[in-house]
Amino acid sequence: TRIDKAGHKHFMSKEIAEQPGVIGAAIGHYLTPEGQINISTQDIDFTQFDRIVMVACGTASYACLTAKYWFEQIARLPVEVDVASEFRYREPPISPRTLAVFVSQSGETADTLAALRYCEGKAARILSVVNVPESSIARESDLALPIHAGVEVGVASTKAFTCQLVVLFALVLKAARDRETITAEAFADHISSLRGLPAIISTALEQNDTMQEAALKLSHARDVLFLGRGQMYPLALEGALKLKEISYIHAEAYASGELKHGPIALVDEHVPVVVMAPRDALFDKTVSNMQEVMARKGKVILISDSKGQAEANDGVWFSIEMPPVPDALAPILYAIPAQLLAYHTAVAKGTDVDQPRNLAKSVTVE
Ligand code: AGP
Repeated sequence: TRIDKAGHKHFMSKEIAEQPGVIGAAIGHYLTPEGQINISTQDIDFTQFDRIVMVACGTASYACLTAKYWFEQIARLPVEVDVASEFRYREPPISPRTLAVFVSQSGETADTLAALRYCEGKAARILSVVNVPESSIARESDLALPIHAGVEVGVASTKAFTCQLVVLFALVLKAARDRETITAEAFADHISSLRGLPAIISTALEQNDTMQEAALKLSHARDVLFLGRGQMYPLALEGALKLKEISYIHAEAYASGELKHGPIALVDEHVPVVVMAPRDALFDKTVSNMQEVMARKGKVILISDSKGQAEANDGVWFSIEMPPVPDALAPILYAIPAQLLAYHTAVAKGTDVDQPRNLAKSVTVE
């Protein structure tokens, strides 16, 4: 089938806009009508593992890092995350009660495939989360979970990332059930949160013009910092990667608490600092880091919900308001501003959004 841009200027903007639909499709595949997770215990039984290693590259590795917070907090399972190019040569010891998880949109990334092969015969089970079910990584796994994102053309991964997160979240809920680390009530709450997610994503997409306005400001920057804490830290990494990939602006992400251990030295009136801070348990901590930035004249773009904005947006350079979202799902929602900021900045700069210089959609050589 031929894929077109469906009236969009770029595949990337089409793929961003498709997210409520494809996220809904992924949720439909992994939740049963009765509100259970549609992954059988014959396929995977989390009582058999005492540890998970997750391996991927680029954006897929940030999906893994987000899932680490979920697996550890909700299913009480220790998770190690590594980029495939490091993992494969590190000769990491893999105990027989380890679940090895590989996340890849294409399913053909050379380093991720090599890392998977390294785990063969060592890990208890090899699971992959892929967009292409016929791919090498899917074929060589004991179990491959498709993310149902549809073909992704833009080099910058967008809908694949959010669908990876949805599938990983469903897997975490299955793990929590198997290991009895969650009450029936909390489990049911997470299920209903998931069902509500596509509508919340749609609401966030309606902020497109605000994102464009923020991006116009960002497009003049030479360096941009992204900050987040806890499960929002991987989103800061993703926001920085998206921005550098397609706008060629230098961007770095830090866990907010690391700021004063070095990077705050970079902050002055020329440096925009994007702060991803839903009004969650760590909000006050992030806000105090944000105030340290403002005290050094850093230009803060605060991405938060209405409560967070009301409490903390005094003196910020720009506010982007996100709809309220259940805490655990905030990383999926905050992917939207990360994507749109990068997209509109790249458009403002006139770069080749869908095929940025020096990059390939799938890195099949080492
Ligand atoms: C994301 O925007 C990138 N283009 C890149 O980091 C990508 O996620 C990475 O190369 C992994 O690709 P995969 O998911 O196909 O394995």
